Amino acid sequence: MNSVLCIIFFFTLALQVANCACPCSDPSLCNTITDTTRKEIYVFSLQNKASSWHKFDWQKVTSVVSVGYISTDLMCLAHKHDARVIVIANYKVSDLTNPALRTQWVKKQLSLVRDNYYDGINIDFEEPILKNESDVREAYTALVKEAYQIFKQSNAHYQVSVDVAWSPNCIDLRCYDNKRLADNTDFLFVMAYDEQSQIFGDCIALANSPYNKTMQGLDGYLNLGIKPDQLVLGVPWYGYAYPCLSLSQDNVCSIKHVPFRGVGCSDAAGHQIDYRVIYPLLVNHSSGGRHWDEAARSPFFNYKDTTTGQMNQVRYDDPESLKVKYSAAQSFGLRGVGTWNIDCLDYSDAPYAAEQTQKMFDAFPTYPRHSWK
Ligand SMILES: *[C@@H]1O[C@H](CO)[C@@H](O)[C@H](O)[C@H]1NC(C)=O
Ligand SMILES: *[C@@H]1O[C@H](CO)[C@@H](O)[C@H](O)[C@H]1NC(C)=O
Ligand SMILES: *[C@@H]1O[C@H](CO)[C@@H](O)[C@H](O)[C@H]1NC(C)=O
Repeated sequence: MNSVLCIIFFFTLALQVANCACPCSDPSLCNTITDTTRKEIYVFSLQNKASSWHKFDWQKVTSVVSVGYISTDLMCLAHKHDARVIVIANYKVSDLTNPALRTQWVKKQLSLVRDNYYDGINIDFEEPILKNESDVREAYTALVKEAYQIFKQSNAHYQVSVDVAWSPNCIDLRCYDNKRLADNTDFLFVMAYDEQSQIFGDCIALANSPYNKTMQGLDGYLNLGIKPDQLVLGVPWYGYAYPCLSLSQDNVCSIKHVPFRGVGCSDAAGHQIDYRVIYPLLVNHSSGGRHWDEAARSPFFNYKDTTTGQMNQVRYDDPESLKVKYSAAQSFGLRGVGTWNIDCLDYSDAPYAAEQTQKMFDAFPTYPRHSWK
């Protein structure tokens, strides 16, 4: 071997070694998760906080999407429990119809996944695409298709998914080609929440994830010919607190008109509130305790703000309403269920926290784990 070749050889070797330096204590933990058929418990994590990750119920969770951060510590931990770690990514709507930028973006996402030993990508594009914007709709499908092809070429076990609205019918003006998005991904994550983003009837507080609307949305996806195994039902671990303009005797809370994407009344009249805040509010501050909305198969309660005197209604989900939706997902034969988001729970040392947090994890279905370690 001549000296120039030799230098090139060692240079290449050094690069490879640098690339192979697995940051986990056990280098085998950097391997991609290979089970592609198991059912999903798919969760989004918003906090780069190891003390919380250690309190997740890893007997249940199969995939964690890290939102707003990338962490090889989380990767090592998830892989130790045979769970995937997934990168979340969004794409600029104005760049959609530019094929060169799409390719560049996909390659960048792939490097991010590869360099951090992650297991795939979740595409969270939620911009409006109007019914008549077929070129933009085609371009979005092309982006997803390219991501799917390039990821699978790189590693057949990489997982590619896309987030979609609770129903395929142009919700929030998102008129996507959902069937082809499903054809070019491992599955769609159906965001069965914020279902009051456009309230067409009376302007009143309603459930975040009502059972009948959620079922109607799932039917919509299945009627497009999407197989149940290509759908993961995503549920909220947060609710909405609505200031009531008036509260009737039968608990109808009328709310301010706040328009969203062309509709005059929306859940933007309230504010989102995590389950870890909801629970103590219910237990110690509600007036009249927990009520059950039979039509929505979801709980709610009223409380008075002690400083302003304002009456509010909290619409949310708890283990009871979640189990109803999880059962439906199981009977439909869906790919699994998931939540936005896992950090809505209380991982603190508050006396009631561990028990309430565990109840939320326990509500998840128990799916068989093929490659269980
Ligand atoms: C699509 O329809 C909207 C009204 O719904 C209109 O404002 C817009 O100009 C149309 N765009 C195209 C590309 O035809
Ligand atoms: C769900 O139930 C509520 C209350 O009965 C009703 O107003 C609404 O129209 C129903 N929605 C669907 C999609 O069936
Ligand atoms: C309710 O208030 C009591 C008394 O302040 C407190 O000890 C308890 O932890 C509170 N419970 C919840 C769920 O916040």
